Amino acid sequence: MPVYHSLGSIPPKRHTQFRKPDGSLYAEELVSTEGFSSLYSLVYHAYPPTIVKTLGEPYCVEPKIAREKHLKHTSLIGFNIQPEDDYLQSRKPVLVNSDLHISLAAPRQSMVDYFYKNSQADEVVFIHEGTGTLKTGFGNIKFQYGDYLVIPRGTIYQMEFNGAANRLFIVESFSPIRPPKRYRNQYGQLMEHSPYCERDIKRPADLKTYDEHGDFKILIKKQGLIYPYIYGTHPFDFVGWDGFHYPWALSIHDFEPITGRLHQPPPVHQTFEGDNFVICSFVPRKFDYHPLSIPAPYNHSNVDSDEVLYYVDGDFMSRKSVVKGQMTLHPGGIPHGPHPGSVEKSIGKESTDELAVMIDPFRPLMLTEDAIRIEDENYYKSWQY
Ligand SMILES: [Fe+2]
Repeated sequence: MPVYHSLGSIPPKRHTQFRKPDGSLYAEELVSTEGFSSLYSLVYHAYPPTIVKTLGEPYCVEPKIAREKHLKHTSLIGFNIQPEDDYLQSRKPVLVNSDLHISLAAPRQSMVDYFYKNSQADEVVFIHEGTGTLKTGFGNIKFQYGDYLVIPRGTIYQMEFNGAANRLFIVESFSPIRPPKRYRNQYGQLMEHSPYCERDIKRPADLKTYDEHGDFKILIKKQGLIYPYIYGTHPFDFVGWDGFHYPWALSIHDFEPITGRLHQPPPVHQTFEGDNFVICSFVPRKFDYHPLSIPAPYNHSNVDSDEVLYYVDGDFMSRKSVVKGQMTLHPGGIPHGPHPGSVEKSIGKESTDELAVMIDPFRPLMLTEDAIRIEDENYYKSWQY
C-alpha cells in the first residue's frame, strides 16, 4: 500500500543495533513482495522468524479443473457453497487462471489452533457477510460487511469471526494488488479524481507483541500445496515495524461512484489492479442525467477479457432474477448485454442501489469442480424473449 505506516517501537536508524531491556538484540526482517524493487517494510521481532521445529507432510489444495476451455455465459449460485467449520477448508476455488484464483467461502469458525500464510499470492478477501478481526503481526484490522481486506503475500494471519454466519469472496492474485496507477500521482498519493483516498484506507492497529515460545503451527501455501510448519516462537512477536508493506482494508461503501450525463464505462468502477486483471466496485449511485439517457449498459463484446460479476446486494438493473452471492462469467469472444426488458425499464430511473464486485481477467478463466456443482445450467439461454 503506498502509504507509509509504523506501529510499535523501531530504532532511529535502520539496520542498527536495537536491543531488548535485557541487552539482547531484536531480530530485524525485511518483508516485501517484489524483491528489493518495490514496497517493503522493516519488522523487528522478539526472536528470529526462522526457528523451525518440525515440518509436516504437505497436502494438495490445487483447484480441480472441470472445464478448461469453454465459450458459454455461466452463472454460479454462490450461496450454494456449503458452510464449513474451518477457514482454509471452507475456501472453494471456482474460477481460476494463471494470474488469479477466485474462491467462495462460508467459514463458521475462527482460526485458533493455527496460522496461515499464502507465500505466492496476495489475497483480497471481500466480506459479504460476517464481522470479525484480521489478526497479523503488523496489528489487527476489524472487518465488517463490505470490507475488502488486502493481505500481501507472505503475511501470516488469522481470521477471527464474531459469529458463525460468514460469506467471503476471495481473490488470490499472483501479482501484487494495488490501487490503479492512474489514481496516483508521481509520489503515489491518491489524486482528487480517485474514487477513494488515503482517509478511506483502514490500516493495522493495536499492535500487541506475543513474546512466547512453544509450538506454533503455520500452514504455508505454495504451488498448490499446504506445508504444515511448526515454529518455536509466536509469529506475532513484532515489537514494531515501519514501511509501505502491510495488510490494509477498504470498504466498498467508501468507494465514491463516478457518474455522468451518459452511461459511464466500467473503468470508472475500478478499485484495484493486479497483473492482467482488474477489480471493480459497482455501488449505489445516481443514474445518468441526460434527458434521453439509457442507464442500462449497452451490449458489449470485450474479446480480450472475461468478465466476472459477483452480486452483493440491491437490485441489479441490467439483470433479471439475480440473487445475493450469484456470480456470472461472461467470457470474452461473445457479446453480452442487458436482459430483455431491462433497457426500457432503466429509462427514467434516477438511481440504483446495486452493489457488486466485478473482475475482468485478460486471460480466460477455467471452471473448477466446485463451480460446476453450483452452476445454473440454463443461464446462457436467459436472453431469450
Ligand atoms: Fe459486462
